[in-house]
Amino acid sequence: DTPELVDKFGRVARDLRVSITEKCSLRCTYCMPEEGLPAIPADELLSAAEIVRLVTLAVRELGVREVRFTGGEPLMRRDLEEIIGGCRAAVPGTPLAMTTNAVGLEHRVRGLAAAGLRRVNVSLDTVDRAGFARLTRRDRLTSVQAGIRAAHAAGLAPVKVNAVLMRETLSGAADLLRWCLDEGCELRFIEEMPLDADHEWARANMITAAELLDVLGARFALEPIGRSDPSAPAETWLVDGGPATVGIIASVTRSFCGDCDRTRLTADGMVRSCLFSDQEYDLRSLLRTGASDAEVAAVWRGAMWNKWAGHGIGAAGFVPPERTMGAIGG
Ligand code: GTP
Ligand code: 5AD
Ligand code: SF4
Repeated sequence: DTPELVDKFGRVARDLRVSITEKCSLRCTYCMPEEGLPAIPADELLSAAEIVRLVTLAVRELGVREVRFTGGEPLMRRDLEEIIGGCRAAVPGTPLAMTTNAVGLEHRVRGLAAAGLRRVNVSLDTVDRAGFARLTRRDRLTSVQAGIRAAHAAGLAPVKVNAVLMRETLSGAADLLRWCLDEGCELRFIEEMPLDADHEWARANMITAAELLDVLGARFALEPIGRSDPSAPAETWLVDGGPATVGIIASVTRSFCGDCDRTRLTADGMVRSCLFSDQEYDLRSLLRTGASDAEVAAVWRGAMWNKWAGHGIGAAGFVPPERTMGAIGG
């Protein structure tokens, strides 16, 4: 049997999240600075072949069962189809998903589905065009909406929509839910975590799950039904008697770190055991100096063994990681 990615607390990581670029077509205030993140030098970025090798090794040697590509924005890589196709061929039984802002997805989603992509989660915070342009600093709402429809048309279902809870978009939350229900998307609201570039996050200012439930409750009947499985980040509510649901990922006020099953790779080839870890383990250099799969796997296991119990947001002495969300890969 495969020796798995286990940590000191007995958690097993089966869900791999691979960031493949720090570039993005949007500039959401909670994730990136206005000018974007500094580009990773081309020679420090993992190549498609290197990503495929690491994903394959994670599945074959380390017990990973599910792979999600993130960014930055994964669509910014022109070799995304090659990455997905390579992984599909190497580990055909492993579901491949992507978290995307869906800008331009419309034109690539059929090719991505054909290459082996199984599902997409789309980040969309509001269906108000002006509000969208302010939050993302780009006027691309219609492209995102077209991308979601194209994903459905390409047979990628369910499409989940992620909305980070922000003061600016809270009044539009019910409209966003209405739109998602009409389009057949599963909407999940997310509590903002201190991973923004401007370090403006403050516990006292963040919108909590409880506050959102008040706002949505004014327009919809909500009935709590819990988590689909213990390590799922979202808690779910039936909307107006169902079958439609809405989810909340309450990473801050109801953290789920005790059941975390994630391991992460950054675009420059570092393992991170947690969004908030202060240590990274360099797999890129290992790959490039001819290490065997067994050697790479051993370093990866060591990285996960040292995973912290939880993020510690709100605790005394908490320090956010140096990387922002855009550089870790939500
Ligand atoms: P599904 O398998 O479709 O449920 O995807 P997912 O929820 O695992 O992935 P997605 O990329 O859609 O992530 C949704 C949100 O969960 C992200 O936007 C983050 O805010 C949050 N999130 C993702 N990973 C972690 C994590 O490891 N820890 C915490 N605390 N939050 C996370
Ligand atoms: N807190 C919580 N979620 C965030 N995301 C980006 N920045 C943050 C943050 N500071 C989410 C995006 C996307 C996913 C990759 O991470 O909305 O859905
Ligand atoms: Fe897992 Fe860290 Fe996220 Fe908590 S903050 S759920 S431990 S990755």
